[in-house]
Amino acid sequence: MAEKRSLWGSKIGFLLAAIGSAVGLGNIWRFSYMAYENGGGAFLIPYLVALLCAGVPLMILEYSLGHREKASPPLAFARINPLWEPLGWWMPVVAFFGINLFYAAVIGWCINYFGLSLTLGWGTDTQSFFFGEFLQLSDSPFTLGGIRWPVLAATAGAWAICWTICYREVSRGIEKASMIFMPLLVILTLILVGWSLRLDGAREAIREFYLKADLSKIALNTAEGRKVWVAAFGQIFFTLSLGFGIMITYASYLPKKTDITGNALTTCILNCLYSIIAGFAVFGTIGFMANAKGVPFDEAITSGPGLAFVVYPEAINQLPILNQLFGALFFLVLIVAGISSMISLTEAFSCSICDKFVISRQKATTIICSLGLIGSIPFTTRAGLLILDIADHFINNYALIIGGILECILIGWLLKSQVMRRHVNNSGGIRLWPVWDICIRVITPAVLLIMLVGALLEDFTRAYGAYPIKALLLFGGGILFVTRLLSFILSHVPWRPEKLKTKHHPE
Ligand code: PHE
Ligand code: NA
Repeated sequence: MAEKRSLWGSKIGFLLAAIGSAVGLGNIWRFSYMAYENGGGAFLIPYLVALLCAGVPLMILEYSLGHREKASPPLAFARINPLWEPLGWWMPVVAFFGINLFYAAVIGWCINYFGLSLTLGWGTDTQSFFFGEFLQLSDSPFTLGGIRWPVLAATAGAWAICWTICYREVSRGIEKASMIFMPLLVILTLILVGWSLRLDGAREAIREFYLKADLSKIALNTAEGRKVWVAAFGQIFFTLSLGFGIMITYASYLPKKTDITGNALTTCILNCLYSIIAGFAVFGTIGFMANAKGVPFDEAITSGPGLAFVVYPEAINQLPILNQLFGALFFLVLIVAGISSMISLTEAFSCSICDKFVISRQKATTIICSLGLIGSIPFTTRAGLLILDIADHFINNYALIIGGILECILIGWLLKSQVMRRHVNNSGGIRLWPVWDICIRVITPAVLLIMLVGALLEDFTRAYGAYPIKALLLFGGGILFVTRLLSFILSHVPWRPEKLKTKHHPE
């Protein structure tokens, strides 16, 4: 029985949606800091090596799997080997419960700050405003201490936008949104970069801290240097949205004739290019702020929420003219980058639910977005940032890495990478070389394994972020455990028999 599956309306639509998923908050607030900390321009070497050895091969793997099976991750995995279905569930389940719930809350912060920037409502002490007045941060992850209503309202807004987009058919929802969001994001980002470069002290900071390459930081014969390499692989993995089943889902809507290798290369290259270009804005703006306030650059730069919600507002305060506009521009960039990633996280889970329970995408989207809104509530409490920080650490260092390793084993060894390579090469487009097999079977899983061991050693010697062990077990270990459990439960629901019949294209 032929099943009608949604399709992208155009090649560019798919590509923009995939890039929309990849380009997210991480490109803006994670990449710059990593580069700064890890040798400036020299960081590009491990970063690009990671891109070629792990990023591109895994992107090809996820695209080809989705394209071949025309299925969500759990269904695709179940068809290759029913025992692997729980892993197929784990990826979108983690994407949803482990990332999406707090990603929505962070977009909620951005929406609030977009509003605040119009009046510079964060005042002069941006640090105490963010943690104090705005988040009213409690001192322990266990002290939820009530909901921050402005945050919850904006988070609900983010879920509503996400629902509106994902509710429609892929080609009229996600694709259309991406066709608007991505060009908009590029234009806004370029304006922001251009503006930042003109600020006093920007160019010096960029030259001194971003472009200057300190090769000693990445030397492989030092423990610190090796850590940088591992961090680069981690960043590539996260920044390309790999290991969550998102790219499998998006590729399942591709038509039969598709240039898989070419699309994978384009997605990877454009995402990393975006990070590098956004870095000029970040370094320029911080350089300006440090200069204006007479503080050293290394005291001014941070990563993550601190960069967006403390350092940037401070810099915006210092601007001689058009502060409000600059602020609105920056937070709008974050919102657009964030929403386009959020819809991909939602879609991976909802597509899986649709495949298994054979319900309409409208129904699945409505259920999942309502569930999402409820699930986001803990992140809008006064302990939100603390829970988020713990969840993020455990997801990125464990769930994602384990998912990636198992994915490589499944396709590389169980299915046999040659089978998949043949599929890619029969779909048209750029030829996939046999080195891909080596990457998928050996190099990528080996590097991921090293990262996993490194993270374990680190976490067992030192409690992450100096949180109480109980909190780490509950919010970190707990998320891993609950998502595993849920995956097992979901994989025990029987498939409709016709679903399991492979519908991959004839080879
Ligand atoms: N790739 C996104 C970023 O760089 C993060 C993300 C990961 C988004 C996984 C969706 C899924 O911010
Ligand atoms: Na990214």
